Amino acid sequence: MSYINRVPVELGKRSYDILVGIGLLQQAGEELLPILRQPRVAIITDDNVAPLYLETLETSLSAAGINHSHTILPHGEQTKDFTCLQRLVEQLLKNKMERGTALIALGGGVIGDITGFAASIVLRGIDFIQVPTTLLSQVDSSVGGKTGINSPHGKNLIGSFYQPRLVLADIGTLDTLPQRELLAGYAETVKYGLINDSDFFAWLEEQGPALCKGDQALRQEVVVRSCRAKAVIVATDEREVGARALLNLGHTFAHALEAETGYGDSLIHGEAVAIGIKLAFDLSSHLKLCPKQECERVAHHFETVGLPTKLREIAGPDWTPQTLVNHMTRDKKVRNEKITFVLTNGIGKAFLTSDVSMDALESTLQDALSQ
Ligand code: NAD
Ligand code: GLY
Repeated sequence: MSYINRVPVELGKRSYDILVGIGLLQQAGEELLPILRQPRVAIITDDNVAPLYLETLETSLSAAGINHSHTILPHGEQTKDFTCLQRLVEQLLKNKMERGTALIALGGGVIGDITGFAASIVLRGIDFIQVPTTLLSQVDSSVGGKTGINSPHGKNLIGSFYQPRLVLADIGTLDTLPQRELLAGYAETVKYGLINDSDFFAWLEEQGPALCKGDQALRQEVVVRSCRAKAVIVATDEREVGARALLNLGHTFAHALEAETGYGDSLIHGEAVAIGIKLAFDLSSHLKLCPKQECERVAHHFETVGLPTKLREIAGPDWTPQTLVNHMTRDKKVRNEKITFVLTNGIGKAFLTSDVSMDALESTLQDALSQ
């Protein structure tokens, strides 16, 4: 067992810790026992993660005297829908779970989001624990209590703010993650540097390639630094009335790209975020808010590790600025029919604004589509 980092998320009565280490799954039982209301849990996982990690987790729970059952959902974004949610909740009720039973989300952001949402509604709310197994879920989605599912009207439009009781991020699980998924998570990490920490971005420029290739110590450090950054923002603005919206850097564009590609394998969330971040920098540069060299530096870093930055790497034949803008105007971040953008004055200098003209947006998208 490696050194375990403990990152607190300070939210008064809803405070919790994020534990980050290598091999944490083997000691999940002893970490969980003190925080459980009763020694009983239901594990929710997916059919990719179950054969890899379910047995290790269950063995550890049994050793700590914790009673457990499990539900295995299909992997993939399509799982975040009403049909799966309904099946999951009915299954939990059928198993006669009680208010003191906790759910454990063992998997990536899909499993974390649907499990957290189920926990927030079943029996009017029960505890849940995040055991994230993708880089994206370790650096972002398992922390901060955003839970939910998708609607045909858009991504994550149905959900709740509901904090976990504990997050256990076992860095060792990243060893089995396909490289494409690892890189997708890396894009969310870079986001923290770009929002308000230019030193972290510079560190990622140096260390990113080695950590993407597999250096576990660097992976642990990047998860800890990302969780610390997110914990500060969430503690300031849990329900996203202000500063938390900065975490959406690149996401207004990304969600439009995901909607346009049908939330499928041709573009996964973190890849959309990388392209979306580049577009947010391009728009800022177009508006003369950010030097062009900063856009190039960001694109260069993403490309160095192997992330996409260009629309043409994914765009379909019918794409126009207008089709993308149509998706953007349906986003959760629309207020009084104006899109709230996260723009930037440069690396580490992101800010929120809804003062962006349609002309500037369409012309940035037009340029990006022709590159
Ligand atoms: P995911 O959960 O779909 O996982 C990606 C793939 O990796 C899946 O096929 C999964 O089965 C597989 N997998 C997971 N762990 C593995 C491991 N250790 N080894 C091998 N395979 C493994 O996707 P994700 O990227 O983790 O999460 C994306 C989701 O997170 C999206 O739905 C997005 O909306 C959501 N999200 C939520 C928040 C939030 O704050 N709640 C933030 C960011 C993203
Ligand atoms: N991933 C954005 C947030 O948690 O607010």
